[in-house]
Amino acid sequence: MKQIAVLASGRGSNFQAILDALSEGRIDGRVVALFTDNKEAYAIDRANAAGIPVIILNYKDYSSKKEYETELLAAMKAVRVDLFVCAGYMRIIGTEIAREFAGKMINIHPALLPAFAGLHGQRQAVEYGVKIAGCTVHFVDEGLDSGPIILQKSVEVLDDDDEDSLSERILEQEHIAFPEAVSLFCADRLEVSGRHVKILPEANNQ
Ligand code: GRF
Repeated sequence: MKQIAVLASGRGSNFQAILDALSEGRIDGRVVALFTDNKEAYAIDRANAAGIPVIILNYKDYSSKKEYETELLAAMKAVRVDLFVCAGYMRIIGTEIAREFAGKMINIHPALLPAFAGLHGQRQAVEYGVKIAGCTVHFVDEGLDSGPIILQKSVEVLDDDDEDSLSERILEQEHIAFPEAVSLFCADRLEVSGRHVKILPEANNQ
């Protein structure tokens, strides 16, 4: 069974979607730690309710990004997990961490990448006037939301959508896509070759 650690900065609804999928047996894994850069994150309450240890590295308490990242890297190494899941983790993953955990770290982004990377993917989609938006689960690499894509789910953009209404509908899809991707990873069903991620068929349980 795969050991998972989650990184989250705020509300943690994607974290919760993964916890729910685990408790319903849709993912063969176990979350062993929550990392957060924000001591006020609601994700902490969710971890407490599920009995998951929380590692708080409160970003504001560090004098530099470098100092924060050095401590985060050390703490991440110490948990010895198979997978790191960035579930609403609102910081850009530093180069060293991305390199160290290449192929073992995934992220969800609220846009159909490579369009609208970075902050406020949903707002960017509304402002640009696209007709289809959505979310992307991808491996983390050294770039900004640029790693190999595992899954995408789309939603239609309606004429009267604003950032909030579109975000809400995208979030529903995030809660489906993310547990699905974690489940595939935990079942060793993701084969990465360059930018391409192939989803392998389910193994025959004989
Ligand atoms: C989600 O829309 C996620 O895609 C983005 O930030 C939001 C986090 O929501 N990166 P939550 O904390 O999982 O509820």
